[in-house]
Amino acid sequence: MMYKHLLIEKQDKIAWISIDRPEKLNALNSEVLEELHAVFSALKIDEEVRVIVLTGSGEKAFVAGADISEFAQFDVSQGKSLAKKGQDLVFDFIANMTKPVIAAVNGFALGGGLELALSCHIRIASANARMGLPETSLGVIPGYGGTQRLAQLIGRGRATELILTCRMMGAEEALQTGLVSRVVSQEELLATAAEMGGKIMTNSSNAIAHALQAIAAGYAEGVDGFEAEIAHFGNCFGHPEFKEGTQAFLEKRKANY
Ligand code: COA
Repeated sequence: MMYKHLLIEKQDKIAWISIDRPEKLNALNSEVLEELHAVFSALKIDEEVRVIVLTGSGEKAFVAGADISEFAQFDVSQGKSLAKKGQDLVFDFIANMTKPVIAAVNGFALGGGLELALSCHIRIASANARMGLPETSLGVIPGYGGTQRLAQLIGRGRATELILTCRMMGAEEALQTGLVSRVVSQEELLATAAEMGGKIMTNSSNAIAHALQAIAAGYAEGVDGFEAEIAHFGNCFGHPEFKEGTQAFLEKRKANY
């Protein structure tokens, strides 16, 4: 399938998605969001793909936010449905993927752009990356999960400060606060993502899918994360990859997943 605003490449079981509107700093308009839903839906069932990396085209921005020009005239009900549709089709959809999604934050990740990175399971950043939630400067609040996921990730106090001041965080501070797990130069960013993806792929993809779901369960409304962990743990025992993993250990060889 061809996309207007996304570049897709597949190599060595990694799918690379670049949001490709560099002239608008890859801002998320409704077409980009629809295409993101379509590509993640396809990758979910693509047996050739085990890890997904999401990044932005160009050297300046990951994503500079939701496209402000599209919603500037919206009323209350349009505002609600913008957030609801975005969360359902893209942000929660990515967060609920059972294949790991790595955000390679290569520049500005602001507003909806940071929320997109927050929906991914892992974030790495280039040294020039700048991250923030500037929505209150526009008279609105983050609506794609930012008030929840940023607080979960870096703590309520830090998240509140960032949302209320609209201050941008640099890569080093993002690393210190746990917003990203690695910072490298821009030249090394995609290679670092590929290396991380490669490491993940040496492990059982079935176990990884269960791990992602068990971790997510702890943040889901009305779900006991510990109970969910017991269920996911148990389910792993019924999968051939568990047999292979334990057998390989006992035979002193590497597991072949
Ligand atoms: N929505 C729509 N268009 C956007 C955008 C967004 N979120 N972010 C950037 N753009 C557009 C600019 O309007 C500009 O378009 P133009 O060339 O047609 O005028 C183009 O992208 C380049 O951006 P520009 O502002 O000229 O680059 P800069 O280097 O001077 O500033 C930023 C970079 C990121 C600081 C600035 O673009 C910005 O503040 N963007 C909005 C960030 C934001 O508030 N996001 C939250 C939205 S909820």
